[in-house]
Amino acid sequence: MSTDAPWRVDCIVGARPNFVKIAPIMRAFRDDGRFRLRLIHTGQHYDIAMNEVFFRELAIPAPEVNLEVGSGSSTEQTARIMLGLEGVLTADRPDMLVVVGDVNSTMAAALVAAKLLIPVTHVEAGLRSGDRTMPEEINRLVTDRLSDLLLTTESEAAANLLREGVTADRIAFVGNVMIDTLFASLPRARPATETMSAHGASGEFIQTAAGGFGFVTLHRPSNVDDARVLGGLLAALADISRLIPLVFAVHPRTRATIDTNGLDGIISATGILATPPLGYLQSVGLMREARLVVTDSGGVQEETTALGVPCITVRESTERPITVSEGTNVLVGNSPGRLRSAVDELLATGGKRGRVPEMWDGKAAHRIVAHIASYLAGRRAAQPIA
Ligand code: UD1
Repeated sequence: MSTDAPWRVDCIVGARPNFVKIAPIMRAFRDDGRFRLRLIHTGQHYDIAMNEVFFRELAIPAPEVNLEVGSGSSTEQTARIMLGLEGVLTADRPDMLVVVGDVNSTMAAALVAAKLLIPVTHVEAGLRSGDRTMPEEINRLVTDRLSDLLLTTESEAAANLLREGVTADRIAFVGNVMIDTLFASLPRARPATETMSAHGASGEFIQTAAGGFGFVTLHRPSNVDDARVLGGLLAALADISRLIPLVFAVHPRTRATIDTNGLDGIISATGILATPPLGYLQSVGLMREARLVVTDSGGVQEETTALGVPCITVRESTERPITVSEGTNVLVGNSPGRLRSAVDELLATGGKRGRVPEMWDGKAAHRIVAHIASYLAGRRAAQPIA
């Protein structure tokens, strides 16, 4: 092989948060010019609202390959991705596979590459919630165990990896690529009132929201799969919406539990505007203008910290501790009473102020590409010339 042939890198995406992370990475690879890229979509998320709109808004090139695995249990998704991806990687073998985040697609792809002896880079390595009931925690553990290059977003991540036996030479702190996308997209973020009226908000809702509103997202299995837990949280939100109007972007997983258990009545005729999943630019626009955010999403915890917007996280733990130690995040678990008192306190005090963590500066993607290039250059140098 010629020593200056482009490096062949395959990037894997599957679910909504992956799209936000891969956009600046693909751009940085292209800017660098030394890589031949292939984007492989597993098809884990497929609805327009969960998928296409992100490709369009973030100018992600159309994937060369779509495995179209669709919905199913975690095991079904993982198995289908593995079967599909093995054929793709065997037929056309890359020098490196890049996976991002902690979704089922991330872990399944890392497993296939590891079995085919293709080096894996994990972007967002080393995050740990310590809660193995979360499917994402299992995905993080397995992906990191199998990855060759582990790129981290915050300092505690390296400590977690070292504790688990990863050697320091495989770990690099690059910052947070999700914040690259956030900062680059702010000028195009949609005004909150525009999004509210696009989703049928009344004039009265919009007028009240002008005095401050909350933005809500919930989709973790532990919060939304059990109708009693979700019902309790919805009742707390209905209660809170009497103090401050709420825009609630309802994830398909959450919508399914609401519909099959007739929970819609709890939030209808309250100060809650329930919308379908929103596009990225609408979501960021709402977050930026919100007085408070209630969420269980990992990405939203980070985005609110970067934006300086107070965030109440409906979980007992977070794999992103810097959003609490330095950022605007507080953890309240999923008891409706604790959620309600956290909102009361926030409204009384204005909420937590924080600072933007180190290297959440909009330039993580270029550092990621530089580390991958130097890793691949080292491997090429070590290989005998054929
Ligand atoms: C997945 C990720 C989670 C991430 C979230 C963002 C895992 C284990 N979880 O969770 O980390 O925060 O994406 O959204 O990978 N569905 C649709 N349309 C779609 C996709 C899914 O209606 O385009 C429905 C399916 O019926 C499915 C449910 O949503 O039953 C859940 O989808 P799934 O991909 O299994 O997990 P998420 O909850 O979205």
